[in-house]
Amino acid sequence: MNNRKMIIGMHLGNGYGSLPGAWRMPWVDPASYTDYDTRVRQAQAAERGKFHFIFLPDGPSSVAADIDFEPPGFNLDVMMTLAAVARATERIGLVATGSTTFNEPYNLARQFKALDVMSHGRVGWNAITSAGDDVAANYGVRIPSSADRYGRAHEFIQLVQSLWGSWGKDAWVHDQATGQFARSDQVAPINLGGKYVASRGPLYIPPSEQGQPVVFHAAGASNNALSLAGRYASAVIGAAFSIEEAIEHRTAFRNAAESAGRNPDEIKFIPGLMTTIAADKRSALDRRIALTGRSFPQRVAYLQQMLGVRLDPADLDKPLSPQQLAQARPSNQDPRSVRALMVAREGWTLRDILAHGVIDYQPVIAGTAKEVADHMQQWFEAGAADGFWISPDVNEDGIDALVDGVVPLLQERGLFHLDYEGKTLRDHIGAPDQYGIDGRV
Ligand SMILES: Cc1cc2nc3c(=O)[nH]c(=O)nc-3n(C[C@H](O)[C@H](O)[C@H](O)COP(=O)(O)O)c2cc1C
Repeated sequence: MNNRKMIIGMHLGNGYGSLPGAWRMPWVDPASYTDYDTRVRQAQAAERGKFHFIFLPDGPSSVAADIDFEPPGFNLDVMMTLAAVARATERIGLVATGSTTFNEPYNLARQFKALDVMSHGRVGWNAITSAGDDVAANYGVRIPSSADRYGRAHEFIQLVQSLWGSWGKDAWVHDQATGQFARSDQVAPINLGGKYVASRGPLYIPPSEQGQPVVFHAAGASNNALSLAGRYASAVIGAAFSIEEAIEHRTAFRNAAESAGRNPDEIKFIPGLMTTIAADKRSALDRRIALTGRSFPQRVAYLQQMLGVRLDPADLDKPLSPQQLAQARPSNQDPRSVRALMVAREGWTLRDILAHGVIDYQPVIAGTAKEVADHMQQWFEAGAADGFWISPDVNEDGIDALVDGVVPLLQERGLFHLDYEGKTLRDHIGAPDQYGIDGRV
């Protein structure tokens, strides 16, 4: 193996953790949903582990389906959180989702570049088009068609990058002796408009230490996502449930970058991983039962579809019978079904099968730190990932479990850096210099 190192990002959703019961754990402050000091501490913990970035997804907004019992999934306002974190950290990258459908390019360009300046060049913009009528309703509209969302996204990203480049790299003189503040010939309007968005500019913000924010895109591997990410993204926050699926996605994004005239190494594929780390498997499963067990009776119905056999919620404490196991077939509608059947065949009870996280929205490792490190090593060495974005089950102790348990193992194995190589997010993930739009695409 060469000395390629993996990139690691940490998911900071609502701040409690990725499992719905995180807020109820006795060691978690149930009111920390609104506490910015908690968010800052979590980012500092990830920085202690030398993680490359934190990732804050956003709808924007939208309330959890089960608000009676579950917190919303997002930070109160991702840009406010990152501003607080920027002032209390020094190296870790700060990546937030910003919708190309429910923003204007000028507003978004200004906020992200200001944050990039404030953080000394550590910002990434996860440019997505938003999905779902529940988000659109906050703006008084229906969600536009995919063609319109992605049509607008292409124009939007080009405009934002043009605005970022509209204050020339060397325009800011601020020479007190001569009295020249800036070179007017290097601060020019962009005068760009398309079918969906337009702006005159210029944007009055000088470059940060990395020039401008790094563009990310979070997506599955749909054609629209591929062509958008292939052109503009330096990193893809992805979702894949097996090594084979991840290799397929990674290859597709690399090919898309190549088709757009870029070097495929310029796009990093970063699939997700959810972790529950404990001293042994049994303790990890029990921890997940405490965190998500409430939903198990209704999840049995879904597991039944994944395995194609009748299952009864009254049998949560029984393993599948030999007849059920003989009949079970993984559903080809859901890529998680193969693993679900594998776990069922190991003889676990229904409750424990669900505790393995076979129906979660990312692959789940519930086990020891070594099991987490092994999973990451296997995917990384198979060429399925350039790194991972990790969602701890409960942030309060789950980030430290990663930093103190998994990171040293990855470092010993030569898979993860011992310290940050540089100061900016561009340095951390090896994204090439860019200021303004990329002339090649
Ligand atoms: C890992 C991952 C993270 C995502 N994060 C966000 C997010 O923060 N905000 C958002 O609105 N959509 C997010 N999405 C949704 C995608 O951007 C996209 O809308 C979705 O995959 C549906 O594709 P479509 O928009 O082409 O219909 C995410 C998707 C994936 C796979």
